[in-house]
Amino acid sequence: MNPASLIPLAEPIPIHWAWFDILLIATFAAHVLFMNAMLGSAVIGLTQAARGRNELIRAVGMKLPPLLALTINLGVAPLLFLQVNYGNFDYVSSVLMGGWWLAVIFVLLYSYYGFYIYKFKYEAMGTGMRLALFGSSVLGLLYVGFMFSNNMTLMLRPEGWQPYFNGYDGFLNWRDPALYPRFLHMMVGALAVGGLFVALLGRHQKNEGFIETGMWWFTRATMLNLALGIWFLMALPDKVLLAFMGGNLPATLTLVAGLASAGMMLYAGFRMEPMRVAGWAVLTVLLMAFIRHWVRVLYLKPWFSMDSVPVTNQYGSFYLFLGFLVVGGAIIAYMLKLYFKSGQGRA
Ligand code: HEM
Repeated sequence: MNPASLIPLAEPIPIHWAWFDILLIATFAAHVLFMNAMLGSAVIGLTQAARGRNELIRAVGMKLPPLLALTINLGVAPLLFLQVNYGNFDYVSSVLMGGWWLAVIFVLLYSYYGFYIYKFKYEAMGTGMRLALFGSSVLGLLYVGFMFSNNMTLMLRPEGWQPYFNGYDGFLNWRDPALYPRFLHMMVGALAVGGLFVALLGRHQKNEGFIETGMWWFTRATMLNLALGIWFLMALPDKVLLAFMGGNLPATLTLVAGLASAGMMLYAGFRMEPMRVAGWAVLTVLLMAFIRHWVRVLYLKPWFSMDSVPVTNQYGSFYLFLGFLVVGGAIIAYMLKLYFKSGQGRA
């Protein structure tokens, strides 16, 4: 069977596709930054607790419920933009994953409640119970991340959709060699940004120990991630790899810019400057989100191009969206200003 016959027809879109791609990349970068701070700091806290040091896991545990809520909220936006431009691939891969994909909702709920109980019932629990609850919640998040990596890679390979005809079960993208380095690259990136979050927490709470631990994890995880990034690049299909090696100039330049930014970030990390690292980290994650987007476009090239999608040129709702974005952003900024101003009173 020709896999192309399995790809649904693309629906018309109201405005030029580039708007959705830009919003997808920007909101995805925000999602990943929060996901990294949450998951990475949780794992670092857990490793410390396993060695009998509970100060960090307790401090991080206080921040996890809001961080998880923000991660989920900032995940909804890219999910919507993804479905607008690439729904004919992403809906299919979601359906093909079946129960594996649906389980994400329940596992996420478990982890969410787990972190809430940890925060508010800390005193009522024994050490074993605390570790079991926290550890299983972290495992749940790893499951969710792995399912996202499966979905985001399965959508790129219509030639891998064939197992659907072998039975009625959902399946994962095990046969794709790029899945493993991609997931590991994401998770080790989470450890790095999680370390940075711990260091920033230490800076805020005037805790030198947190700064040292956080920056240790940040630099080690980033160095490991450079190696994992190379493995990921090598695991990509030849045509995608060659595009990054000069075959496609914009893609190659994005990769070079991403690596340069990562280098600056690591340099600031070794100099123990968490604030400077944070600035470079935001830029690096944004550039990596662009690189990842290039990967998607290059993978899909034989099957699909955004230029083939009909545009109806109905800009009204887009202007309404932009209006709400600006007004909503200004209200949130004002709200945050009031919140920080009230800090002294709350303390
Ligand atoms: C809280 C636990 C979560 C974790 C640990 C997590 C982790 C991840 C990871 C690792 C990826 C990248 C996968 C890859 O490209 O290989 C990803 C992508 C994504 N996540 Fe999350 N995620 C979480 C929750 C959510 C939720 C609840 C939503 C939506 C409501 C969401 C929406 C997305 C979307 C749309 C993408 C792909 C965006 C794109 O392809 O441009 N995530 N997530």
